Amino acid sequence: MHDEHAIPNPDESATPDDSADGTSRRAVLRTAGIAGAGLGLGALTGGTAHADAPQGAPAAAATAAEAPPRKGKTMVGVPFERRSTVRVGIVGLGNRGGSMIDLFLAIPGVKVVALCDPVKDKTAAAAKKVTAAGQPAPATYTKGDHDFENLCKRGDIDFVYVATPWDWHFDMAKTAMLNGKHVGVECPVALQLDQLWELVDLSERTRRHCMQLENCCYGKNEMRVLRMAHAGKFGDLLHGAGAYNHDLRGLMFDPDYYEGPWRRLWHTRLRGDLYPNHGFGPVSNYMDINRGDRVTHISSFGTPALGLAEYRKAHMPAGDPSWKETYIESDRTISLVQTAKGRVIRLEHDVSTPHPYSRINSLGGTKGVFEDYPERIYLEPDHTNDEWGDFGKYAEEFDHWLWKEHANPPGGHGGMDYIMIFRLMQTMQLGLVPDFDVYDAAVWTSPVPLSHLSIKAKGAPQAIPDFTRGMWKKARPGVDSEKPQA
Ligand SMILES: NC(=O)c1ccc[n+]([C@@H]2O[C@H](COP(=O)([O-])OP(=O)(O)OC[C@H]3O[C@@H](n4cnc5c(N)ncnc54)[C@H](O)[C@@H]3O)[C@@H](O)[C@H]2O)c1
Repeated sequence: MHDEHAIPNPDESATPDDSADGTSRRAVLRTAGIAGAGLGLGALTGGTAHADAPQGAPAAAATAAEAPPRKGKTMVGVPFERRSTVRVGIVGLGNRGGSMIDLFLAIPGVKVVALCDPVKDKTAAAAKKVTAAGQPAPATYTKGDHDFENLCKRGDIDFVYVATPWDWHFDMAKTAMLNGKHVGVECPVALQLDQLWELVDLSERTRRHCMQLENCCYGKNEMRVLRMAHAGKFGDLLHGAGAYNHDLRGLMFDPDYYEGPWRRLWHTRLRGDLYPNHGFGPVSNYMDINRGDRVTHISSFGTPALGLAEYRKAHMPAGDPSWKETYIESDRTISLVQTAKGRVIRLEHDVSTPHPYSRINSLGGTKGVFEDYPERIYLEPDHTNDEWGDFGKYAEEFDHWLWKEHANPPGGHGGMDYIMIFRLMQTMQLGLVPDFDVYDAAVWTSPVPLSHLSIKAKGAPQAIPDFTRGMWKKARPGVDSEKPQA
């Protein structure tokens, strides 16, 4: 299985390059993608990137901290309709969608009824998985970049899962909701602040949930820390940190890993934190962001962008299309976020220099601190002599019920993908309130445009809007769920 969090196995990375009609879609994207053709980039980015005025930068007006008037009713605490079977449509069947489908198929009461990807081979391979799991052959949508609209129009889908390049996330989430579907989107849910507001407004207006499927919130360590934080083991919470520090240089330049150069191209457009969710989501949960506290502003600083150009020089042959690209994305972005209660969250993003994988994942309070990668803990009164303690000691008392019930979950990323999908499908089947909603999606993604603006303004703080429009003050459950009654 392809696993972005693991060192890629070159054999596993190799996927067929040719579409059914004999034309290589990858080959087309490799060249045309630079100008955004075929990826829908035009609408988001305008034209060619320039180091001092990157296209795709959010409009200044969109940074206003004040929430626009609400057009619908809040989605805070809104349960799903109860349904014994959840009917799923999947858009994007690349590395991520093509492996997450296995998890949907592994959950009783979940039916995969429709699939969409313009690459016919990938759609066919995914359809085969559905029939191999004993389900009827799914409807397939392979007729170009907008065929997802036809999938969204179907009357027999409850939930649309979007695992496409970032360029498409906003359009797809929007289209799903406008067609009456709940939608779960890979990270980040959108790239611009006005788009985040639009998704909030649409979710409220259509009464459909729009969710960021942030799998790291369901990591075993993250869920244990979450339960310990809520049990008061850290005392009053003061600070936390999260990151996406993952050397993706090899994958981003590998012509066969992603479907076209879409991910690398974002490094020509924005300077800030392109992928904050994996770190921000879990720390937001520890601190009950949107559930008693809220994030108010962010200051970001970025290093020079040298890593990708250096890698290209060492590895890419003359004439490769990547030689036309100018990288502006900071190799390491470091952001500080403050909350209404005065807590501080540090975020890091670095996918273009050599280093071992780390999401940092730390939390500190008046009684001590946890740090991950590698995991270690120091809490009074358990530890007193300046030496880190054993985090495993807290497993029995504090592991989340989901991890106790699914000790060896299937799928990648240590099982957190399965735990997330299992729980999401459970909330849909039982008619419960989802663990996370459009407000969480908007907050966890907001550093993408705001870190870019802050770096351009030499670290000047940027207001993070209150997407909940005041509802953040209300304590309510989230990922730290109680096991539902059968
Ligand atoms: N949460 C995680 O741990 C995790 C891990 C890996 C990837 N991701 C996310 O998943 C998403 C996909 O990443 P990937 O690695 O699978 O990329 P990929 O390039 O392998 O796959 C993307 C797929 O989307 C398809 N696609 C492109 N435009 C489309 C359109 N208009 N309609 C339908 N399908 C379209 C492509 O043909 C391709 O098959 C990204 O948002 C990425 O950030 C998340």
